[in-house]
Amino acid sequence: MSPPPIPFEIRRRTLMATSGAVALGAIAAGRASAQSGGEGGSPAAAVGPDSTTVTLTVNGTEQELTVDNRTTLLDALREHLELTGTKKGCDHGQCGACTCSVNGQRINSCLSLAVMHEGDEVETIEGLGTPEALDPMQAAFVEHDGFQCGYCTPGQICSARAVLDEIAAGVPSHVTGDLTARIEATDDEIRERMSGNICRCGAYSNILAAITQVAEDQA
Ligand code: FES
Ligand code: FES
Repeated sequence: MSPPPIPFEIRRRTLMATSGAVALGAIAAGRASAQSGGEGGSPAAAVGPDSTTVTLTVNGTEQELTVDNRTTLLDALREHLELTGTKKGCDHGQCGACTCSVNGQRINSCLSLAVMHEGDEVETIEGLGTPEALDPMQAAFVEHDGFQCGYCTPGQICSARAVLDEIAAGVPSHVTGDLTARIEATDDEIRERMSGNICRCGAYSNILAAITQVAEDQA
């Protein structure tokens, strides 16, 4: 024979009393922990300075910057050095508008903190050419109408130059078939390697034509 059911009021009171005791215990434990500095027993300490002085070489010129440690390389270029050619599209590593070169390799500068680049060589679109003497990739983009609004274009051009360097260096991509053969700048290779650079104007076919022309000129 089963025991009689416990009246609801008793169960509710028991629950409330138990919950209250647990909550008070947690608050007391939290206060004690805060006063003692946490589990380690030492007081909570600041983790370091808020800002750091970093020296970069940007487009051949040495630059010393004191930046908030949270400053991205992109913001250091744009806000501190007024090099606004490098664009901020998504600020999340998804569009490629912020592509520039660091020590010869392309990066998304929005994903990298300026303080990580002490002593590094940074090259932005401003360092590639001038209106009178364009870099071959810049000239090819102009010749093939590789842009419409132009917002993505600095990142596209910085990326495109790096793509041809990567192909020449034999760095394989996701679509490289024969890893033992010389890699060619085929349409598929260029499209795959440029896939991190988004163009909302949809100038992709002309961008491909521009990069192909430079690849053929360099062959
Ligand atoms: S702004 Fe850096 S990837 Fe979009
Ligand atoms: S030219 Fe406008 S986003 Fe690419």
